Amino acid sequence: MATTLAFDVYGTLINTHGVLAQLQTMIGDKAYAFSTTWREKQLEYSFRRGLMKNYVPFSECTRQALDYSCLYYQIDLTQGQKHTLLESYKTLPAFEDVQQGLVNLKAKGYRLFAFSNGTGPAVQQLLQTAGIIDLFEGIVSADEIKTFKPNPDIYQHFLLVSGSLASDTWLISSNPFDVTGAISAGLNSAWIKRSDEAIFDPWEIQPDTISADLLLLDKALQLSDF
Ligand code: 2OP
Repeated sequence: MATTLAFDVYGTLINTHGVLAQLQTMIGDKAYAFSTTWREKQLEYSFRRGLMKNYVPFSECTRQALDYSCLYYQIDLTQGQKHTLLESYKTLPAFEDVQQGLVNLKAKGYRLFAFSNGTGPAVQQLLQTAGIIDLFEGIVSADEIKTFKPNPDIYQHFLLVSGSLASDTWLISSNPFDVTGAISAGLNSAWIKRSDEAIFDPWEIQPDTISADLLLLDKALQLSDF
């Protein structure tokens, strides 16, 4: 059975700080802190929604987190500016290593899927814009079962839709909450440590392997005692 790789999207394939340049033109030197708060709050809202069983599409978590960030930094973005930022969130760039990394992995015989909290259409638009959609066998979205990562139901849903066994499946993510969630649900998982400063949570659950990017991922998977 070929090994299945489930790629997280935001932060793993797609650089969520891609809106930074636009933010800098709008709010100057607070842009990086604002972008970080926006991402953290977006994820927090998805966690809360999942636990509350009060689902809204991930794009709504993104929109509400943008509003929160404006309140937190006391920055009055106009509706037009917010629309511009949310529109650019739909077409964020892929990291530089992603295209070639995916081509290499596909050539090695791995089954490649995109696997995200984002809705199917939102992920499709991102992957199409990034020019990588044809490298994936499919897209699996949390929206299909109306909850969010790291709910174990999501990882089981991925296995069901992709027709994969947990033992043959790796969740690939730069987001520690996703890596620990996948391992807790019985999958293997590789952490994409995209910066030296990135910290993995000091839990009893640790990644099965770590790679700095997708170009080095195949070697990391081969070296793991998988
Ligand atoms: C995802 O793409 C939010 O990065 C997370 O599912």
